[in-house]
Amino acid sequence: MTKTNNVYIETYGCQMNVADSELVLGILKNKGFSVTETADNADVILLNTCSIRDNAEQRIHGRLGNLKKIKEKKPSTVIGVLGCMAERLRISLIEEKKMVDLVVGPDEYRRIPEFIDQAFSGEKGIGVKLSRTETYDDIIPYREEGLSAWISVMRGCDKFCTFCVVPFTRGRERSRNFDSIIDEIKILSERGFREVTLLGQNVNSYNDNGRDFADLLAASAAVDRKIRVRFTTSHPQDLSDKLLYTIAENPNLCNYIHLPVQSGSDRILKLMNRTYTIEHYLNLIDKARKIIPGVSFSTDIIAGFPTETYEDHLTTLDVMQKVKYDGAYMFKYSAREGTKAYKMGDDVSEEAKTKRLNEIIDLQQSISFEVNQTLLNTEEVVLVEGNSKKSDEFLAGRTDSNKVVIFPKNEKVKVGDYVKVRINKATSATLFADFLSIEIPYEKDIAKTA
Ligand code: SAH
Ligand code: SF4
Ligand code: F3S
Repeated sequence: MTKTNNVYIETYGCQMNVADSELVLGILKNKGFSVTETADNADVILLNTCSIRDNAEQRIHGRLGNLKKIKEKKPSTVIGVLGCMAERLRISLIEEKKMVDLVVGPDEYRRIPEFIDQAFSGEKGIGVKLSRTETYDDIIPYREEGLSAWISVMRGCDKFCTFCVVPFTRGRERSRNFDSIIDEIKILSERGFREVTLLGQNVNSYNDNGRDFADLLAASAAVDRKIRVRFTTSHPQDLSDKLLYTIAENPNLCNYIHLPVQSGSDRILKLMNRTYTIEHYLNLIDKARKIIPGVSFSTDIIAGFPTETYEDHLTTLDVMQKVKYDGAYMFKYSAREGTKAYKMGDDVSEEAKTKRLNEIIDLQQSISFEVNQTLLNTEEVVLVEGNSKKSDEFLAGRTDSNKVVIFPKNEKVKVGDYVKVRINKATSATLFADFLSIEIPYEKDIAKTA
């Protein structure tokens, strides 16, 4: 009998990488590998990496340093680097880090079993070709039991924002087959999943033979009304009215839109090649709020893009005040070789970036606090996810708008239930609530609209 090989995978970066790791494990399970939860006893160790900012890559270099010790103890261990950093650094990863056996970019995951076989016989493997068509439609990702699943519906990106490595590490934009996505949601529904998030760098440009992202959302939501459907990321340029109405009409499409603004300055947005103005952006937010009452927004913001002045930075704070985001992911600009912005220099000092980022973070914290106070005494429907991190006597779940809610444990309530609660306290990050009842919220809403 041949021995089963164990594979261990560690995932960095965005949710797209989380979904890709499940895909890679799906491919390897099909070839007879088993999955293990620790690096120590694995025959194959894979790091699925991120290149978005320099510190993301530094973390991986550090981790490879640790893994070197495992390799020294057990030289037969195969070590592989996958993902965006594999695509960006290619062969130099193997040249610089002798312990790395394989380097595989996002479009060559089907070849991983072949590379691992080669590595077992001492050969290095490298697969970094990008594809215009690969979407891995036919592969069932390996997923643990759970409530939430990430489903990648597009790959690549054609936007070429000047600061960003993604178009280089993930290649051209392409949409996955519509029916394969719906079939995957059906499988998740049968397994008792309660939430799916459709993923793409710019989901609004999804198109499969004329079926657009609004069509995909509507069909996804119709699979099982007990499944909440989320999506990310929307680019402000292509968020259509049809999409907004689709969200409004489907009770289990979450009223939450991640709409990265990046900067409040039109001059900087132009240099970033973001293709919208702040006026367009704010109009879009107003329109979405009219069409979808109570919709919440989150954003991404970059501090210290090349040539950004303190006045430019103040316009970013101003947009944050106007929109009042529910949440934000906030970053210092990191110059990435090969991008257009790299050639603009990196002229905002580290101190200025830190100061601006801190101002952005402080402002967002006070806005989140303020927004959350408006929810006091309101009723919310929460999908129960498990015990609260801080205490076993409390349960935690999330609202439709993606806010964490903590409430006292109750014998009737199980993980995966929808419950109605009343908010009694709110901080900038968390809502606290009293339990009211168990709900099957969306069925009622559908009876109403049918
Ligand atoms: N496709 C998505 C997200 C891509 S990466 C979108 O367009 O919004 C997630 C976020 O990382 C970006 O929105 C941006 O805010 C940030 N980011 C990307 N490149 C960066 C860089 N070079 N330096 C700092 N932040 C960056
Ligand atoms: Fe990067 Fe812009 Fe594409 Fe997002 S839309 S992945 S920021 S190039
Ligand atoms: Fe990072 Fe690649 Fe995602 S660079 S953010 S893992 S697309």
